Amino acid sequence: MLKAQELREQMRKEIIGQDRAIDAVVRAVMVADLGICDPRRPLGTFLFLGPTGTGKSQIGRSLAKVLHGDENEVVAVNCTEFKNPHDVAKLVGAPPGYVGHEQPPFLTQEKLDRKLTIVIFEELEKADRAFYDLLLQILERGELKTGRAVDLTFRNCFIMMTSNVCAKEVDDITKNAVIGFSPPSHKFEELDQDSADAKIQTVCIGAVEDFFSPEFINRIDEIITFNRLKEEHLLAILDKFLLDTRARLAMAGVGTVISDPSKKFLIERGTNLRYGARPLRRAVREYLEYPLASMIAEKGLDPNEVIHVEVGDGKLEFHVGRLVKGAIIS
Ligand SMILES: Nc1ncnc2c1ncn2[C@@H]1O[C@H](COP(=O)(O)OP(=O)(O)O)[C@@H](O)[C@H]1O
Ligand SMILES: [Mg+2]
Repeated sequence: MLKAQELREQMRKEIIGQDRAIDAVVRAVMVADLGICDPRRPLGTFLFLGPTGTGKSQIGRSLAKVLHGDENEVVAVNCTEFKNPHDVAKLVGAPPGYVGHEQPPFLTQEKLDRKLTIVIFEELEKADRAFYDLLLQILERGELKTGRAVDLTFRNCFIMMTSNVCAKEVDDITKNAVIGFSPPSHKFEELDQDSADAKIQTVCIGAVEDFFSPEFINRIDEIITFNRLKEEHLLAILDKFLLDTRARLAMAGVGTVISDPSKKFLIERGTNLRYGARPLRRAVREYLEYPLASMIAEKGLDPNEVIHVEVGDGKLEFHVGRLVKGAIIS
């Protein structure tokens, strides 16, 4: 049986600074694991809102990593694929003789049948209204009528939906809060950090209420606004990125030592509090992974060599040292 505390701790290592969302997800997993859910509904349904690059899409993948050992063990549906009313056929596949019949459907019972399956619907607001009718069935009854002999059931599934419906408004608030620029004439724009967060939450909920029907909203178990990431969170996320990068390199037989000034360099290049963790990930790729990969491709490395990452002139530099009985000799 799963332990709530363990699950929470594992999730907190994966997703930084979003404890409210993690707690909601952990609660649902615990109830599902005990088998005391309403048997006629999905195991848990979530709508994630808030600033971009803060973990809304990642949390479902991280849960898959923690529960199933692989973050790709999710069924992910991008709602931008369902812009037109006739696109809904793509979800379960078009019947024989109809357009699109040759294409494999997004959803099949086989994909949904795993224990504690995680289904992610990305960018919900991009779909056509006809898509919400299908989603409503899923949320309400845990099944989807396909018009065939077999209907799809979602009673083994967590449904995680993300929406950017309030992206513009959230970005405006974030921009002002981040810049902190407030000469007397612009005082009305001044926002302290806590009130910015509260405002984002209000704006998101308001936008959802304007956009989605009350019956749709009422069928969602948890609507959660993600927090903006602050500098302390980005530092922790950088450590996570670097751990992943180093693990991938180690798998390829390459040892690395990344100096503290190099981390500072990456944080400076990758911090843009408006866009969450995405610029940081780009900085890691641009300044560390790509140049390192091309250096390794060019020079080759023998297994006793270790690469030291140091700050050079406006870039990161890589120095090759040797590993002798576990100690590094440059
Ligand atoms: N809170 C977070 N904790 C850890 N990593 C994060 C977090 N937020 C974003 N990331 C990283 O940034 C990437 C983009 O985040 P994502 O979840 O796709 O953003 P969005 O909130 O716009 O859906 C993720 O794949 C992950 O690597
Ligand atoms: Mg997303």
